[in-house]
Amino acid sequence: MSNQICLAILASGNGTNLQAFIDAIDNGHLDAQIAVVLSDQPDAYALTRARQADIPHKYIGKGDYPSREAFEMELVEMIKKSKADLVILAGFMRILSVSFLSHFRGRVMNIHPSLLPAFRGLDAQKQALDYGVKVTGCTVHFVDEGMDTGPIILQAVVPVLKGDTRDQLAQRIQQKEHQIFPEAVRLFQQKSLKIEGRRVKISD
Ligand code: GRF
Repeated sequence: MSNQICLAILASGNGTNLQAFIDAIDNGHLDAQIAVVLSDQPDAYALTRARQADIPHKYIGKGDYPSREAFEMELVEMIKKSKADLVILAGFMRILSVSFLSHFRGRVMNIHPSLLPAFRGLDAQKQALDYGVKVTGCTVHFVDEGMDTGPIILQAVVPVLKGDTRDQLAQRIQQKEHQIFPEAVRLFQQKSLKIEGRRVKISD
């Protein structure tokens, strides 16, 4: 019997991570279906990618709701309606409240462009360059109420090269993101991930 899982993907920008999921599903690496793509930005290229791949998609603008709670409730409704098993934050540039997360406990994943717990928050690539680290990378983690603090699932290391610009480094980090994010979801789909306290145990 198929164990296929259903994903809701939230994205605010270009959507290269969304594309990595579309490709991983197409090439058989990931047994999943993208039920819906939601964006808080009307011009997000992620929405175009969803349309091109025939995936249901919707712009939900925070400004169209009287409060953050109302905006998040709409997101919750849309995700529940889609019957998604897992919520994927693929470059979703909003912090979600505890109340939002309470609807999807242990079922929200994020990708962050650093080796957490280093360089949380915005522009982690620039933070890494400014700090002078010699390696950085990316992290897939479950989302908790903190900013980039949830239990870590997978990480990949990217060397900082001499003369790297922020964008060159960001691009090399993204290539790794596109590998480890679908892989983390594959592990979830195979029921190989178990959250124990703040650690994620991965079974074979
Ligand atoms: C990624 O670099 C990710 O680490 C960060 O947002 C970016 C999204 O890129 N959270 P894209 O929209 O998937 O191309």
